[in-house]
Amino acid sequence: MFTATDFIPEKYTSDIEKGNFEWSAPSNIALVKYWGKKDNQIPANPSVSFTLNNCKTITKLAFIKKSASTPLSVTTESFSFDLLFEGKAKEDFKPKIQKFLERIEVYLPFLKHYHFTIDTQNTFPHSSGIASSASGMAALAMNFMSLEKVLNPEMTDDYFFQKASFLARLGSGSACRSVKGKVVVWGNQANIKGSSDLFGVEFPHAIHNNFKNYQDTILLVDKGEKQVSSTVGHDLMHNHPYAERRFAQAHENLDQLIAIFESGNLDEFIKVVESEALTLHAMMMTSMPYYILMKPNTLQIINAIWKFRNDTQIPVCFTLDAGANVHVLYPENVSEKVLQFIQDELVVFCQNGQYICDKIGDGAIAL
Ligand code: DP6
Repeated sequence: MFTATDFIPEKYTSDIEKGNFEWSAPSNIALVKYWGKKDNQIPANPSVSFTLNNCKTITKLAFIKKSASTPLSVTTESFSFDLLFEGKAKEDFKPKIQKFLERIEVYLPFLKHYHFTIDTQNTFPHSSGIASSASGMAALAMNFMSLEKVLNPEMTDDYFFQKASFLARLGSGSACRSVKGKVVVWGNQANIKGSSDLFGVEFPHAIHNNFKNYQDTILLVDKGEKQVSSTVGHDLMHNHPYAERRFAQAHENLDQLIAIFESGNLDEFIKVVESEALTLHAMMMTSMPYYILMKPNTLQIINAIWKFRNDTQIPVCFTLDAGANVHVLYPENVSEKVLQFIQDELVVFCQNGQYICDKIGDGAIAL
């Protein structure tokens, strides 16, 4: 079993003055939801997600030693970094990065020795309401790992990706599922060998061809700022009247998905996935204070999907993240019909008619 101290490096064997790296990391969509956490970004329950392909963050990290003569073993006072978003300085993102650096410093003791320029951009519209924290934190973690690999050239690939996921988790929990693999599990689960609360792992069991290139069309229902952030939402799971039962249910649903991924049974898949989405929002509605992130159009879309599925027997379903947008999930072989349905019946419920076509992808890529 891994512990966090396994990610504290021993002495670095190499050194570097300056350079730069660039990584892209995708967003991901949870099927079994992470909702509720303990200290140090430890999830209250295991989750599993599809890695996306098109929605991603691209981050360039330029680094230069503050003082060439300071050995890495000597600590200097503070972090030093500039943050650019789409090429322009972005002061309001800095506190989040500062906090991330503070959380990961013990695992990357070189951080205070360099000045960093972090230049980041998303492939999806900034105001789409799609969370960029998962892809953003994952992309940054990949870059830091590339730097650590230069300082420790003996590092194995397994360790590289595992630690990248570990670090990304400390930035944003779901980010640890945006590093590597098409289907990623995060959180200890009895029947998923190698699963860990500390990092995401590739789903280790068989996956039926029905899920190959699974499609996710993201309907942008509401692009406004969320009234309640995920961080606050997670926190409200402490003392939540249904929390313990919910956490147990996530384990059960993940068990079910193991069998479903193997058999390719899409009816069963739909039941688990839609139930998870509505349970997530039920947890929000039964928090104290209670709140609702779905919008009227979210419900319009859900009802239209149910009707379409009933009328056509096409195995299309929905899931939700912590917001009003709807992810429409379906197998590749019904793409044409589902896209037609989306255009004919669902686009009217999207803000400015906007939606994003995505599908399962492989994870972060070095550019
Ligand atoms: C509803 O990962 O955004 O999308 O760890 O506080 O950064 P923090 O939360 P975050 O929560 C995501 C919650 C979710 C479900 C999921 O992705 O599993």
